[in-house]
Amino acid sequence: ENGEEADGENTIVAGTAPGFPPFEMVEDGELVGFDIDLLEAVVDETEYELAEWEQLEFDSLIPALDNGNIDVIAAAMTISEERQEQIAFSDPYYSSDQSILVQTGGDFQPESLDDFEGQTVGAQSGTTGETVVRDDLIEAGIIDEGDYTSFDNYVLAVEDLESGLIDAVVLDEPVAETFEAERDVEVAFVYETGEEYGFGIRQEDEDLQAALSDGVAAVEESSEYEEITSTWFGE
Ligand code: ARG
Repeated sequence: ENGEEADGENTIVAGTAPGFPPFEMVEDGELVGFDIDLLEAVVDETEYELAEWEQLEFDSLIPALDNGNIDVIAAAMTISEERQEQIAFSDPYYSSDQSILVQTGGDFQPESLDDFEGQTVGAQSGTTGETVVRDDLIEAGIIDEGDYTSFDNYVLAVEDLESGLIDAVVLDEPVAETFEAERDVEVAFVYETGEEYGFGIRQEDEDLQAALSDGVAAVEESSEYEEITSTWFGE
């Protein structure tokens, strides 16, 4: 708010990576989405104050946290062992799997990753979707490294899928469903990964980590979590 000093010890800056609907996107020039509403509700439960949102590319979020440009990541970020070597997470606030998106009514209608031979695939740089491509398609010997395109965000990947430049996109299931509803793409199948999203913080910020986890629990216990879910998922 105007006139409020935003440099107190308990003031935090959040970072996100829009282009990931309905978790974070820019609509009419405004940053909106599930993560935006949820983090704001969670921080309201704590003694911290959210000063501002920084919009970054997904693979710049952890470096920005490390160098102090942001204090918390709210970007549908999956809690993983690899990331936990660098950062800490709040308790989980959402569960997801991966999905395979293809052109609606297109020639490529895979039922499993084994059907990907000779196909081209896209994902967002630094995501768990990219990890599925690297580990379960390239390392597994199903596609070649050259058949994979890494995108700065999933909107660009879906645009290339719509125009037939790539055959499939691997991404988080709720986001795939949103693109399916809004664009000329459809979910071919769900690839179960059992992921959970958490808010990312620096490992030394233990007080903030505890406050955010308590805040997640409080928001989930109140009616707010359901309200935010129904706003963005219409459930
Ligand atoms: N859940 C996936 C991950 O952690 C994808 C997150 C992408 N988030 C975004 N805001 N673009 O890698």
